[in-house]
Amino acid sequence: MDKNIQNYINANLNTDLHALLLKNSPFSDVSMHEIVQQIKGKQVALKKFPFLLKEGILFPPQLNLEQSSSEKTAVYKSALLKSEKFIDLTAGFGIDAYYLSENFNEITLVEQNPDLLEIVRNNWNVLGKKATFINQKLEKFLAENKEVFDVVYLDPARRDNNRNKVFLLEDLSPDILAIREELLSSATQVVIKLSPLIDLKYLASVLPAIFRIDIIAVKNDVKEIVIFLSNQKDNKISCNCVNLESDEPVFKFMFGEEENAVAEYGEPEKYIYIPNNAILKAGVFNLISQKMRLKKLHPNSHIYTSDSQINDFPGRVFEMKVIDAKKIQKKSQYNIISKNYPLKPEEIKKKYNIKDGGEKYLIFTQSKKGKIILKSV
Ligand SMILES: C[S@@+](CC[C@H](N)C(=O)[O-])C[C@H]1O[C@@H](n2cnc3c(N)ncnc32)[C@H](O)[C@@H]1O
Repeated sequence: MDKNIQNYINANLNTDLHALLLKNSPFSDVSMHEIVQQIKGKQVALKKFPFLLKEGILFPPQLNLEQSSSEKTAVYKSALLKSEKFIDLTAGFGIDAYYLSENFNEITLVEQNPDLLEIVRNNWNVLGKKATFINQKLEKFLAENKEVFDVVYLDPARRDNNRNKVFLLEDLSPDILAIREELLSSATQVVIKLSPLIDLKYLASVLPAIFRIDIIAVKNDVKEIVIFLSNQKDNKISCNCVNLESDEPVFKFMFGEEENAVAEYGEPEKYIYIPNNAILKAGVFNLISQKMRLKKLHPNSHIYTSDSQINDFPGRVFEMKVIDAKKIQKKSQYNIISKNYPLKPEEIKKKYNIKDGGEKYLIFTQSKKGKIILKSV
């Protein structure tokens, strides 16, 4: 809050933080560690949540910053929720709660970490946003709570970072399976943010109350799987594949539709389509062929084709033709895409002596007839 400290922080936004940590703090009542935490926070905020670049805002340690949702995905989720009473049971740094509660009148934040909750309380005060702040374990809160909320939101933390093992709900804090009954009886709707690593079929099997799943990518990088649960659902699950920061349309389907979908196969025609990563995560490889009336090149290639262009494809569209490998000029420049092909882009670049980048593309893949190379026209 001190003006001199704020000025020192702002003057050091681009300083090497390791070097800064070795220096003595110029202030008697604030350590260099605390100053560096605020500088790091501002650096992250610049990219991830610019609305927090205000005087008086405090930033938590790096782990809490990393765990926070980005402003972009939070804004998307907020447009889906509107009612009276909102509660975030895993408030963290409060980014999700700040946006998701926009269309609610009563807001409650629960967080087990007292220091973090105090930071959020300070920041919401600075931002002029009102809420009830509860420093408690959410399991205890749920056991004692008698109120019914319109929306209960959770963004559980990963317990460990072992990326190699199968990702289950039991690996999260809180364990959603252990509290699912309490969650469903405390709200009309339960909304949970999950990692893109989680398997959708597993989710649908262990949480039968799911009625909606959103797969959210930002610039084709899948960031979140968001599930919506309710006790009043019928037995259908609607799914939405979204690629934010692109002009690609949302791809909607009903869970299970892929099982009965039939793809039409064909050799490359004038237009080539690669679905965005939200769709690839959903695994609707046949459904996209059937719904968009596109031919698929190969069961494992997930590349599609048509003679006349369709405009509302949720992914990238190229105008291409099949070429002979001998026609690839040495030292020419291309963006290389390799899908269902034995060589990786790096290996392809070496083998054909191609430079990376430029406007044109080469796609190395397989059709039902075998290996093929496609080139932008
Ligand atoms: C991934 S972070 C939430 C980030 C938040 N959505 C945001 O946008 O800033 C998860 C938070 O849940 C809290 N948490 C985990 N288990 C909890 C529990 N059993 N009770 C209360 N809080 C819990 C953690 O302390 C952590 O701050």
